[in-house]
Amino acid sequence: MNNTIVINTDVKKATINKNIYGHFAEHLGRCIYEGLWVGEDSSIPNTNGIRNDVLEALRNVQIPVLRWPGGCFADEYHWKDGIGPRENRKHMVNTHWGGVVENNHFGTHEFMMLCDMLGAEPYICGNVGSGTVQEMSEWVEYMTFDGESPMANWRKENGRNEPWKLKYFGVGNENWGCGGSMRAEYYADLYRRYQTYVRNYGDNKIYKIAGGASADDYNWTEVLMREAGRMMDGLSLHYYTVPGDWAGKGSATDFTADEWNTTMEKALHIEELIVKHSTIMDKYDPDKRVGLIIDEWGTWFDVEPGTNPGFLYQQNTIRDALVAGVSLNIFNNHSDRVQMTNIAQTVNVLQAMVLTEGEKMILTPTYHVFDMYKVHQDAALLAVEPNIQKDEATKLPEIHVSASKNNSGKTNITLCNMSRDQERKVTIDLRGGSVSDMTGTILTSANMNDRNTFDNPDAVKPAPFNDMRVENNSISVTLPPMAVVLLTAAE
Ligand code: AHR
Repeated sequence: MNNTIVINTDVKKATINKNIYGHFAEHLGRCIYEGLWVGEDSSIPNTNGIRNDVLEALRNVQIPVLRWPGGCFADEYHWKDGIGPRENRKHMVNTHWGGVVENNHFGTHEFMMLCDMLGAEPYICGNVGSGTVQEMSEWVEYMTFDGESPMANWRKENGRNEPWKLKYFGVGNENWGCGGSMRAEYYADLYRRYQTYVRNYGDNKIYKIAGGASADDYNWTEVLMREAGRMMDGLSLHYYTVPGDWAGKGSATDFTADEWNTTMEKALHIEELIVKHSTIMDKYDPDKRVGLIIDEWGTWFDVEPGTNPGFLYQQNTIRDALVAGVSLNIFNNHSDRVQMTNIAQTVNVLQAMVLTEGEKMILTPTYHVFDMYKVHQDAALLAVEPNIQKDEATKLPEIHVSASKNNSGKTNITLCNMSRDQERKVTIDLRGGSVSDMTGTILTSANMNDRNTFDNPDAVKPAPFNDMRVENNSISVTLPPMAVVLLTAAE
């Protein structure tokens, strides 16, 4: 039987919040230092300390929101160490990530400047694990209060007169683990207390995000929603695609066909997590006011041999591109509840967009998927009726899809073929409009571990896709193995 997909171009479901295409940058390894921030005196071309090549690449993918400063680092971070003249800033040990010296040269002002340069909304994660209520409250006052106050005055002394606009604020991170090893009940009470002092100053309205569950810890979501659901705007969820286990995650580049299939299976698992966490949320919040914020996701492999184990540096292959493609399709398809996601992490850490080595920079296959999928940002999710076969051997769906329509009436369909060795055929029936000017883009590669390197930076890159036949409103497409495809139809 053939794979068929019916897309109702006139049935719009939820809006795909552009923040689903969000990112995460932590003080971890070479993400912030070297990756984003090189300092004004660096020989690497930079603007106010931010490297120009990375900035330009990230601007192109239209990052809507950027989470900072962690991760586990957030619950060890004391924001007052990161303001004022850089030469006077306190040095500390980044105990969680590699035990390296953190000189605090990248702090609140630098982060806000970066967001401004990227055109991204800042999403700041506050310290519950080792910080005080007062410290968190004063951080918000420092950033957003417009008037006379100790914190606002201090901000002005540090060169910033106007308050910043800050919408997204996280109250702690992974508080069941690195953020304080708490029980759900205890964190729920702390969340209630800390968030009370995360104030809205003037017209700055903060969207408060509670630290959420890891993977299938449904009890955490149940307790948080029951005890504190009405005091939050978003509840987070963390899930990483790890082909092995935490002791041996598997290599990023040297893996078997079985590991490929397991990786795809584990990437698809996020859909079950979304459905089950959302069902619990529905019980307490049937109107879906509280967003599910998947503020850490992506592949997590063993670190690149020879690199600092605490730096989480890994290469990125066409396998990562497929994980990104299916994950983003899933997030789009659940955009009634999923309001933001942040891939971990933007530069040089885990499933990165870009990798740097000295003054060189390369774009990863994952970057190209974000570039292709940016057309979905803030578009209307379309009703899709897929009739898709499962591969007999791997049990993976033959095709994975999501579709949206943007404000100019363009329909964008993103398709993934997760098979390592089989091409897939699909017929797409576009109903509710006529198809014209169909164009396509494909990201694929010949070998499952193909990647971009500093010697061969364009080994995996998008190309025009023409393997389709359009007849009336029906499109017949053949996807090669290991492919992510974007089809665009004008109205
Ligand atoms: O992204 C790396 C780490 O993974 C984050 O710091 C932490 O929140 C998670 O465990």
